Amino acid sequence: MKIVIVIHSVCGNTYLTAKAFQEEFLKAGREVSLLRVADPSWTEKPDLSDKAREVLSAMRALPEAKPNDLLNADMILMGSPTYFGNVSAQMKAFMDSTGGVWFKGQLVGKKFAAFASAGNTEGGGDLCLAALHTYAKYMGMFSAPLPVTTLPGENVNSLGIIQYSNGKYAETLDAKTSRVVTAFVHFLATRF
Ligand SMILES: Cc1cc2nc3c(=O)[nH]c(=O)nc-3n(C[C@H](O)[C@H](O)[C@H](O)COP(=O)(O)O)c2cc1C
Repeated sequence: MKIVIVIHSVCGNTYLTAKAFQEEFLKAGREVSLLRVADPSWTEKPDLSDKAREVLSAMRALPEAKPNDLLNADMILMGSPTYFGNVSAQMKAFMDSTGGVWFKGQLVGKKFAAFASAGNTEGGGDLCLAALHTYAKYMGMFSAPLPVTTLPGENVNSLGIIQYSNGKYAETLDAKTSRVVTAFVHFLATRF
């Protein structure tokens, strides 16, 4: 099964979550591509830690996602920062660039899963996930849930993973997100 992960990330949090997905899918023996949507206005903030700059440099080195990259995928994952309870404009621009793919029904029947990063727990990360799933529905894809039984004892959102950054630049992925990604990939690889 070929997996394509498409993200937008500015401060690296969505990127680190995506990287954890990529690593877990590789462990599960899947072929995985990790791509970043175009973001021409991105600029690096001064005074970041060495670790944060390392994360951003790896993020910036990702290949740019194009609509045709989705065509050979069996499963597509999309991850976005939460901007005002929605996906970022850059992620939306990528979605809108797939109009031709939509018109030809080229994503119909593919599997889909979503993840988001949000500054805070009341910040609408679930709305960002819902926007990603709405896109999947319009494309005719099958949306994966994240069943609460996937990781007993953890609070998870049934629409996917929300990573909380507190608005900070990413240095390492927090332990909870890492655990939930592992469990979610196990679910996606074995049950979906
Ligand atoms: C324009 C803008 C809008 C944002 N809106 C929200 C929001 O509605 N809710 C929230 O929790 N965080 C919001 N944030 C914070 C980001 O979602 C958060 O910092 C996220 O971790 C960034 O992901 P990234 O590190 O992958 O870029 C916003 C940030 C920006 C720049």
